[in-house]
Amino acid sequence: MPDFVTLFEMGPRDGLQNEKLFVPTAQKIDLVDRLSACGFRKIEVTSFVSPKWIPQMADAQEVMEGIYRHPSVTYAVLTPNVKGYTAAKKVSADEVAIFGSASEGFSKKNINCSVAESIERFKPLLEKAREDGIPVRGYVSCVTDCPYDGPTPPEKVAEVASTLFELGCHEISLGDTIGAGTPETIGRLLDAVLGAVPADKLAGHYHDTKGRALENIEVSLEKGLRTFDSAIGGLGGCPYAPGAKGNVATESVVDLLDRKGFDTGLKRDLLAEVAEFAKSLRSVDA
Ligand code: HMG
Ligand code: MG
Repeated sequence: MPDFVTLFEMGPRDGLQNEKLFVPTAQKIDLVDRLSACGFRKIEVTSFVSPKWIPQMADAQEVMEGIYRHPSVTYAVLTPNVKGYTAAKKVSADEVAIFGSASEGFSKKNINCSVAESIERFKPLLEKAREDGIPVRGYVSCVTDCPYDGPTPPEKVAEVASTLFELGCHEISLGDTIGAGTPETIGRLLDAVLGAVPADKLAGHYHDTKGRALENIEVSLEKGLRTFDSAIGGLGGCPYAPGAKGNVATESVVDLLDRKGFDTGLKRDLLAEVAEFAKSLRSVDA
């Protein structure tokens, strides 16, 4: 049996959140429905965040209510606080994600609070999710470099990751938010984080700004990670991280994993079609 790798599809959320023009709700729903047919186990659909901060995700409720819910897919959403969590619960999100940072500069720009304040803000959300039986994923951004603060010490990432893990996040996704990581810095980062969180509870979330995301996935595979975040057609970026281009393209990761003998359960022909569709949405922005 080939080793299985889970790809967590980010296109509808991390991809579309960065478009300058509003992608119509019906097209977002279409994208998620097409992705659901590809064999993903996990799709991040949208974000329940302030529409003033991220106008692209203002239709989160409509998108969640409009998609076809394939029974074998977990439909996840971002929730920065209890307000977002309550809205996500109302539309029966299967999983929610809190998103913190290993750097102070990005935390302030992205969620308007310090790293310590963000942890305090997450605690009541985690408590509610525990009561409701809804799994919570935890993101740590800027794991190697921050667009505001420069290089991030691996120990700081390990500290934030282990705090989120101990507070109840079932998985920690390590975000190379601006795609500045290299196999060397990602390797050092993982050596530090693996002392606090086991490999099977970690995910690699690598943006491909400098074209090194696939190499960073390879080093992460060597360190034992088996979950990676990627976006169909390489959609993506982050509005509060200048220079953050797309997430690594799902179809490229599938090609890499296939060559290395890993199984992803994804249908490559369908993925290629959806990648074209995803790119056509991006051109709305052109
Ligand atoms: P704030 O202004 O400090 O919050 O923003 P507040 O509590 O003072 O509320 C201000 C206003 O926002 C109020 O409305 C609230 O009701 C509203 P007003 O009275 O002014 O009309 N509000 C909300 N509305 C809808 N949903 C909510 C919500 N919460 C408050 N959940 C806040 C703090 C966190 C809300 C804001 O900073 C925010 O929404 N930030 C989101 C930023 C974001 O989504 N960034 C992109 C995702 S992270 C990412 O891409 C990185 C990742 O991919 C990993 C990686 O690559 O590293 C995950
Ligand atoms: Mg991201």
